[in-house]
Amino acid sequence: MTMKIIGTGSCLGDRLVTNQDLAQIVETSDEWISSRTGIKGRRLTTGPGTSEMAAEAARRACEDGGVRPEELDLILLATSTPENHFPNGACEVQAAIGAVNAAAFDISAACTGFVFAMQTAYSFIAAGIFQKILVIGADDLSKITDWTDRKTCILFGDGAGAVVVEKGEGDTFGQIMGSDGSRGHVLTCKARSGGNFLTGKGPEMGYIHMDGQEVFKFAVKKVPECVEQVLKRQQVQKEDIRYYILHQANERIIDAVAKRLKEPMEKFPMDIQDHGNTSAASIPILLDELNRHGRLASGDKLIMAGFGGGLTWGALLMEW
Ligand code: ACO
Repeated sequence: MTMKIIGTGSCLGDRLVTNQDLAQIVETSDEWISSRTGIKGRRLTTGPGTSEMAAEAARRACEDGGVRPEELDLILLATSTPENHFPNGACEVQAAIGAVNAAAFDISAACTGFVFAMQTAYSFIAAGIFQKILVIGADDLSKITDWTDRKTCILFGDGAGAVVVEKGEGDTFGQIMGSDGSRGHVLTCKARSGGNFLTGKGPEMGYIHMDGQEVFKFAVKKVPECVEQVLKRQQVQKEDIRYYILHQANERIIDAVAKRLKEPMEKFPMDIQDHGNTSAASIPILLDELNRHGRLASGDKLIMAGFGGGLTWGALLMEW
């Protein structure tokens, strides 16, 4: 059994922020940011939050796939930046697009969230529980970014990407998921927390903290490893892969992964230069761009791979 994508959509933050703009607020430069990360600009949101961007990406994915929202059985939203503890963001999307017959819940796995959500969708379809599923990755990281920390604030952008999936013909589908909670401290963002009347403590806000070099080392080791594993498990050769759609965290990470896999850079599409790291949204945004630019053909074998806070990682192999 396999799962296929029948529609894609995306929505980016409304405001372009260039490296030069950031050099006005922290001590940095376009040269430093672009040579270390590949990022030239990113879109930040000044209005719509995670759910609104997610709903817009979802509308576009449904339209692209010719799917009426009432046909959806399930909505999965991968995000680390929900607007509320409850209702969850997926329920907000459900209400916004009128997907009245869908169950809806969020998945939290940082930048790996979309890959985990796709794997969850596959499991529901394979089990015969649901037929049409909307899978979204959306993050509004600018609200959890410390804009005085030049080590992190230059990296992130806001946006959402969505796909509609259903059961497909054939059996090309493979997945690898992994987590290592003991190394969670290298990439953290504390949830809004506080005491109660007993502690007398007020609420505290969390911001992203990252040990950049540790995340770098983790990514360039784990991503090739899980890609190789999924290929082996499905007995698919690297030559048969059309694109590796990796989480867009850093151009140097993608370069290093390509080298380790001994695959040419043309197979690693990138949009990080324009969008920065949009966390759970980066893979479906890139997928939507490839789709809308006509770069995907029926039968193309794709690998999607994510890595991020948790630590978490995952890869999936599927056919377009
Ligand atoms: N502008 C100018 N100088 C800077 C900046 C900046 N924005 N940020 C850090 N520096 C300085 C540091 O202060 C340091 O100066 P010092 O040597 O005088 O102390 C120097 O540059 C080197 O700092 P490092 O942190 O060692 O820089 P590094 O080369 O590791 O690059 C980076 C940092 C780009 C974050 C890198 O570690 C990286 O790419 N890590 C991968 C992590 C990642 O991509 N995370 C994305 C989010 S997580 C996720 O998506 C899973």
